[in-house]
Amino acid sequence: MTLMDHDLGTPAPKPSSRNGEQTEVEVTIDGVKISVAEGTSVMRAAALAGVDVPKLCATDSLDPFGSCRLCLVEIDGRKGTPASCTTPCSPGMTVSTQTPKLERLRRGVMELYISDHPLDCLTCAANGDCELQDMSGAVGLRDVRYGYEGDNHLSLGKDTSNPYFTFDSSKCIVCNRCVRACEEIQGTFALTIEGRGFGSRVAAGFNGNFFDSPCVSCGACVQACPTATLTENTVIELGQPRRTVLTTCAYCGVGCSFKAEMQGETVVRMTPYKNGGANEGHSCVKGRFAWGYANHQDRQLEPMIRESITDEWKKVSFEEAIAYAAGRLQDIQSRHGKYSIGAISSSRCTNEEVFVVQKMVRAAFGNNNIDTCARVCHSPTGFGLSNAFGTSAGTQDFKSVEYSDVILLIGANPTDAHPVFASRMKKRLREGAKLIVVDPRKIDLVKTAHIEASGFLQLQPGTNVAVINSLAHVIVTEGLADTKFIAERCEPTEYAIWSEFVSRQENSPEAMEAHTGVPAAQVREAARLFATGGNGAIYYGLGVTEHSQGSTMVMGMANLAMATGNLGRDGVGVNPLRGQNNVQGSCDMGSFPHELPGYRHVSDDATRTMFEQLWGTAIQSEPGLRIPNMFDNAIDGNFKGLFVHGEDIAQSDPNTAHVESALSSMECVIVQDLFLNETARFAHVFFPGTSFLEKDGTFTNAERRINRVRPAMRPQTGKHEWEIVCELANALGHPMSYNESSEIMDEIAALTPTFKGVSFARLDDEGSVQWPCNDANPHGTPIMHKEKFVRGLGKFTPTPYVPTEEKSTRKFPLLLTTGRILSQYNVGAQTRRTKNVAWHAEDLLEIHPSDALERGVRDGEEVTIASRVGNTVLRAQVTERVAPGVVYTTFHYPISGANVITTDNSDWATNCPEYKVTAVQVSPGRSAATAELDHPAHRLSALVRMANQIARQFAADSSLDAVKSTVAHLERFWEHEMRVDLARAVETGSITVDDVVVEAVRRLTVHA
Ligand code: SF4
Ligand code: SF4
Ligand code: SF4
Ligand code: FES
Repeated sequence: MTLMDHDLGTPAPKPSSRNGEQTEVEVTIDGVKISVAEGTSVMRAAALAGVDVPKLCATDSLDPFGSCRLCLVEIDGRKGTPASCTTPCSPGMTVSTQTPKLERLRRGVMELYISDHPLDCLTCAANGDCELQDMSGAVGLRDVRYGYEGDNHLSLGKDTSNPYFTFDSSKCIVCNRCVRACEEIQGTFALTIEGRGFGSRVAAGFNGNFFDSPCVSCGACVQACPTATLTENTVIELGQPRRTVLTTCAYCGVGCSFKAEMQGETVVRMTPYKNGGANEGHSCVKGRFAWGYANHQDRQLEPMIRESITDEWKKVSFEEAIAYAAGRLQDIQSRHGKYSIGAISSSRCTNEEVFVVQKMVRAAFGNNNIDTCARVCHSPTGFGLSNAFGTSAGTQDFKSVEYSDVILLIGANPTDAHPVFASRMKKRLREGAKLIVVDPRKIDLVKTAHIEASGFLQLQPGTNVAVINSLAHVIVTEGLADTKFIAERCEPTEYAIWSEFVSRQENSPEAMEAHTGVPAAQVREAARLFATGGNGAIYYGLGVTEHSQGSTMVMGMANLAMATGNLGRDGVGVNPLRGQNNVQGSCDMGSFPHELPGYRHVSDDATRTMFEQLWGTAIQSEPGLRIPNMFDNAIDGNFKGLFVHGEDIAQSDPNTAHVESALSSMECVIVQDLFLNETARFAHVFFPGTSFLEKDGTFTNAERRINRVRPAMRPQTGKHEWEIVCELANALGHPMSYNESSEIMDEIAALTPTFKGVSFARLDDEGSVQWPCNDANPHGTPIMHKEKFVRGLGKFTPTPYVPTEEKSTRKFPLLLTTGRILSQYNVGAQTRRTKNVAWHAEDLLEIHPSDALERGVRDGEEVTIASRVGNTVLRAQVTERVAPGVVYTTFHYPISGANVITTDNSDWATNCPEYKVTAVQVSPGRSAATAELDHPAHRLSALVRMANQIARQFAADSSLDAVKSTVAHLERFWEHEMRVDLARAVETGSITVDDVVVEAVRRLTVHA
């Protein structure tokens, strides 16, 4: 059965605060009495009373519009037949929805619609899912008196420019739902109704097609369309779905809930779930459309082993691969000691999968050498927020932003990286909330449709702490601090120390201007607005954490929120926008080398004893190695074996040459992933992973919301990832077994106080819960620190600004910073294997016109970008989005090798790499790319990149289809053949750079 949402026609009226009292009014509809909140439409009240009034232009995700005139009703004591969607209930109202007069009027409306609509229902893609069809039935339409011969729109053509959906204008009834969805839900304003009266038509952009318009392909219009005018291409190809599985998007930390709508084990479409707590029925292009990677031809479904990384992979049974992996790890430990191996867990995997990986390390490896990819993104969040508030998580749920008055957005680009949350934020901004953006780059939110930031502090990369201190300086010295909140909720001594610190002249906006580049007056204005503008909320991203002072900055933001009393209620808080789907969860699950699940230090005897008793083994009390320590120890010869769970560290971690050098120094690298990724080049064992469509477990999103991930199909590999990990632990001598993943969650709940009330049964009942979920908060905790902080009183900490060591110099005069783009995700392993490549086929280097002019760099041409650790080649995009002296790129393509140039500078407290600041030089052309190929691993990467770039140029001369197919060949070629050959060739020194390029082009010619 497919899961049909009951559409109540219009949205519920919004209360002034989330739990605010709403006056009730009682009305009678078709003889049924019902009490509803004041402001509820007659249509919604009727639906709640069990009476669905016919409708076409109304839907409960959009404000009523009142254009179709199908929802007419009669109201006692009122003249005429008002539209029920635009008429609010008033006390004592008596409504009739079904009278002979209304029936006649509705049939007349439907006749007009149908006389200008194709009558191909039996072959239409929407057959069985068309509101026009349903309403024709509902009003009893039997005849069309006007005939079908008059003026009509039946010959209008289709727009197939979008890779994922088709616009068939001939079927459009001009109900405006798509236009309103794009405006109200998505906030992009890409659609308009052109023309008037009979000539009115929906248009994307200015007379263009969807692809060339500002459309971001979120699909909200497709979902809102009541006819087959806007239809998913998969529905056109496959027909209507037959069953529904409720699950969770596996891309970003928003954690949108989806209905996976299926035919057997084939996904027909993903429809965002209206009752999903994180997304309330909205999605972005990735979650709704970019799931095709799960069946991509590159997907690896069988385990593989090899003796040396220069050997060919050999496909083997799971039993053989597990025995082989266990044997190699045991051999390493017997020769190098038990601390010579470790693991990296994945923030893309479920809580249950992550939990068993860290358990395997602690119980079967016998050490605490477990770290997570969160090390390289949000580890400073954990450190900073724990220090200030006592727990390592964002303070609010996403809904809270609907009650914010001033939003301080620092180092985050939500329209690209967290799009569904961005739509919520934009809605609040259109309602009048103010926005202050702190970012080196002019992100879209600074000025976009119907939104303009009140402040844009375009700081120099690496100077966040200077800005936050100067904002605090203004607030304290101008007497704008919330002294009542501070006195009641915070440690007085720490506040006194901090306020004296920020009040110093050295922290004033005027003194900091020389570092930050932000005019002091702008900082003063922003500080006053944040302190006095009502509910002030801070949202931040990796532009805060990925710095040498990432942890300092998180504490700085916590200080600012406490000083202005912006914690513990709706509309405020300090909120990390987490990058990957389960960053929060992987941290919660004990993936850090110093913490057991629930952020409890391994040195805590009582906690350790609890785990030891349940697991039946001793746990080390000393923290294990962090990822950078693992790499350093590997190069030093002390760390020899690594299990990499669902991460591509060879692409995502900084200073690629260093990472590759570490990986190639190890004796056993085990990779568990969907694809043979960059890291797998250095692996000896490959375990195939499962896509989110096959997983059974939970993800925890950025608002601490634990969402169920339900399997829409069986694991294509034949095994769940947690089963493989358990079997490896068993082979290593520590028994680990579960019948199903719910038992793993039961173990997590038994061992972790903040998860005590969590179970699959509860999640099935409640949809989702936000931790802490325990006896005190059985239904979860949307907003934290309401009465008091988890640590009791909030703790202010002085945050001196220490300039990063990564400074621009004469040799490297520009500062590179990095980020994401909407259509791609992280290292692109998934999105590059979908039609999303139509929007972003390569990473580009943004450079300011003055810097470009100075260097002779022209828009669209290749440039060499070099740092002190490496260099790569990117295509330039000359733009004023970046300030002079700053360049910017994304890191979604391995061929760009953005991390070849990032350094291994890192956060002082957590070792989170300083991705956001790298001193570089940019020069036109690719000439310098061969100049610094000194490190063998770096040399190999550079060779591969260069060969591919040459091949891409070769492909660019052909037609679009030829290019696509060449690139597809290139991907396979690279994955399966070239790396092995190149590794051999580089090792033996038998080839030159020119040989590689010539060979790449020759092979591509053959393949293409
Ligand atoms: S897909 Fe989204 S952005 Fe594009 S037109 Fe539809 S609603 Fe607007
Ligand atoms: S495209 Fe669909 S939603 Fe938009 S106006 Fe036409 S029928 Fe209505
Ligand atoms: S916003 Fe994030 S979680 Fe939601 S659909 Fe997009 S990628 Fe998925
Ligand atoms: S549904 Fe009310 S006017 Fe269209």
